Amino acid sequence: MRMSVIGCGYLGAVHAASMAELGHEVVGIDVDPGKIRALQAAQAPFFEPGLTDILESAMASGRLSFSTDIAAAGGSQVHFIAVGTPQKKGESAYDLSYVDAALDALTPHLADGNLVVGKSTVPVGTAARLAEKMERSGSGASLAWNPEFLREGFAVKDTISPDRLVYGVPAGEKGVQARQLLDEVYAVALSNDTPVVVTDYATAELVKVAANAFLATKISFINAMAEIAEVSGGDVTALADAIGYDARIGRRFLNAGIGFGGGCLPKDIRGFAARAEELGRGESVRFLLEVDAVNMRRRERMVQMVIQALGGQVYRKKVAVLGLAFKPDSDDVRDSPALDVAVRLNGLGAHVIATDPEAIPNSIRLHPQLGFATDTHDALHNADAVVLVTEWKEYRELDPIATGQLVREKILLDGRNVLDPAAWRAAGWTYHGMGRP
Ligand code: UDX
Repeated sequence: MRMSVIGCGYLGAVHAASMAELGHEVVGIDVDPGKIRALQAAQAPFFEPGLTDILESAMASGRLSFSTDIAAAGGSQVHFIAVGTPQKKGESAYDLSYVDAALDALTPHLADGNLVVGKSTVPVGTAARLAEKMERSGSGASLAWNPEFLREGFAVKDTISPDRLVYGVPAGEKGVQARQLLDEVYAVALSNDTPVVVTDYATAELVKVAANAFLATKISFINAMAEIAEVSGGDVTALADAIGYDARIGRRFLNAGIGFGGGCLPKDIRGFAARAEELGRGESVRFLLEVDAVNMRRRERMVQMVIQALGGQVYRKKVAVLGLAFKPDSDDVRDSPALDVAVRLNGLGAHVIATDPEAIPNSIRLHPQLGFATDTHDALHNADAVVLVTEWKEYRELDPIATGQLVREKILLDGRNVLDPAAWRAAGWTYHGMGRP
């Protein structure tokens, strides 16, 4: 099938390459010439495990191309909209300007019977509004909403073998046709018994934000328990293990620490709450404001723990910050709690030396005032305190004895509760976890 993918960021670039890998003929389109140049050379414009491999094989097959010219979408039967929907500046709501601009630019190139497929995360009601706009344009194309649930770090796997597919389609014959086209797009996943939920636009839009709201709530729930453990002497990690054995609760997404970040969870709970207010049902998801507040408190808690561990002030103390990305296996620092902790410590006069296997270039762009070291040993050298804030494998596997020989003071703050306190204490370290004694 011939298809176009408009927007080649984390979502679109992976989607375009994955669709070509599955045998479709795909053109990826983006307004950013730098991004398109990199993709045309089969280089991933960001770090995502496995993406370069499928870019190379799909480009070599001749089924994948990239362009900055929206006219390249002409002749495709299906057009995915995969542009960003960031948080509006100074507001909680979504900025939909890229979605509208993408559709407007695409419209002159649509032909009768084409299907436009929205993948971007949008506030409920957007698809209905865009469908009306398409109707008025008279192109004869129709619209489906097909949210994406990929996780950074596992984006290729999540796109090629999703755990479910959601099709939001219009009523009647147009909906039947949309479903047929989407079944053809996802034929490989469907042949592997991937569950499909076929529904209306509003439900499809809500599924995405509801899923992210639930995940964010789960993380803030365990972080709230960490706050209680901190004042009562409990251990939130043992608590998470114990409640996690209840299959109704489950252990996943119950890791307490400095909280969630990234391009999705923070923005989606805020955008959802803002949309609910617009719909006159603000109270229904007002708890998401509390979920957000718990999450934001964890970063400050980490900073306070560092200050306390260093005897009351961090001024001119050398602090090694391990991790900058919002999670491991990603170079994404959007709303990263790890980068935020580094910036806050730096603001208090600490000599921060931050390191990360992939996220240093993105961090320098945002915060050139920080000290950076590409080598973990250089970051640790003569440190007065070590703060682990992104749980990359190489940090989880640090040897307490060897690490102790690099630093000035064996003070360790584990912002992700991933190190073994007994092993580090046995090597002479003062270990501080979050919500652990
Ligand atoms: C998320 C959703 O998981 C995905 O389905 C959706 O499509 C996009 O948003 P992603 O942003 O890639 O994916 O990251 P995710 O793995 O969900 O982690 C989000 C944040 O939560 C990270 O900062 C992570 O460190 C944090 N987290 C996760 C915790 O603090 N504790 C946990 O137990 C799990």
